[in-house]
Amino acid sequence: MRVLIYSSHPYERPFLEKEAGQHDLAYTEQRLSLQTAQLAEGFEAIAIFTADDASAPVLQKLAAMNIRYIALRSVGYDHVDLTKAHALGIHIANVPEYSPYSVAEHAVALLMALNRKIAESRLLIQLQDYRLDILTGFDIHGKTVGIVGTGKIGMAFASIMKGFGAHILAFDPIENPEASSLGIRYVPFDILLKECDIISLHCPLNEHTKYLFSRDAFSKIKPGCILINTARGAIVQTEALLDALDQNQIGGACLDVYEREKAIFFQDLRGKIIKDTQYTHLLSMKNVLITGHQAFLTKEALTGIARTTLQTIASWAKGQRAASEL
Ligand code: NAI
Repeated sequence: MRVLIYSSHPYERPFLEKEAGQHDLAYTEQRLSLQTAQLAEGFEAIAIFTADDASAPVLQKLAAMNIRYIALRSVGYDHVDLTKAHALGIHIANVPEYSPYSVAEHAVALLMALNRKIAESRLLIQLQDYRLDILTGFDIHGKTVGIVGTGKIGMAFASIMKGFGAHILAFDPIENPEASSLGIRYVPFDILLKECDIISLHCPLNEHTKYLFSRDAFSKIKPGCILINTARGAIVQTEALLDALDQNQIGGACLDVYEREKAIFFQDLRGKIIKDTQYTHLLSMKNVLITGHQAFLTKEALTGIARTTLQTIASWAKGQRAASEL
């Protein structure tokens, strides 16, 4: 099949090439949008990532160019209008699993870096300032950690937290049968908010989880709680998060995702002025640590993404239904 890879970045190309087999891959760094959809003219399939726009009008345009297959190089599919795709006869498949450890371990890295002030410490040491006064953190051992979404990534995060000696509470409408073996106790959302010293989000973004962390949630949260979001930006209402941080309702935030990240992440904005003042407000806070949607970025995860994407395309090329079709 001739496949156009949208939003392709140098870091992933070697992994895709290695798995390409007989497929003919072409790359564009451009994101899929109404303006860039015509780049897919002449291709049979496209592969897209999280910042691409697969809303109804874009799908309509692709269908008119005879694109019948869209492989998502991501777990999340909140950026795709699935109903419209089905109506247009466009097959969509995601990568349902690729090293959940990549994201879980990044969540832990963010937590530990924020808690143990690693960024500040590096700066101070570069200045040859070896005083410790602003570097005090806390033990994770003995703390209560809350997990929202005990799927693959949530469970990987829970197992690391268990290794630290934390107590683990969880909220998920569907309880994971393996949770009890990690000592995870399911509780209502409000109890999780009230009792946890650390809360990590690992649920998908959908109509139930959008703004799950709103003013109401922050008003119930345990004072000093650290919030980790490596799931999707819009699960947290940024305005409410900023107020919670400003008013010291929470102790800090570790963010790999951000509500309006599409305008910022995955591109070189050096020398440019970022006009999103909520984002720049977050950046200015010393108890907020931000990474630019890089939690998945390990060799193992990139191999997994490339392999599943190309296997999906191979199934479609044989006229079969892909295993991860949505
Ligand atoms: P998964 O499907 O294995 O688990 C998701 C869990 O969330 C399930 O147990 C589900 O029951 C639960 N859930 C659904 N609705 C919920 C609700 N209203 N409240 C609480 N829990 C709810 O998915 P996986 O692989 O663990 O990924 C989780 C999310 O992580 C993805 O949806 C994606 O948005 C995000 N992600 C972020 C990445 C990054 O680089 N930052 C990379 C990969 C995934």
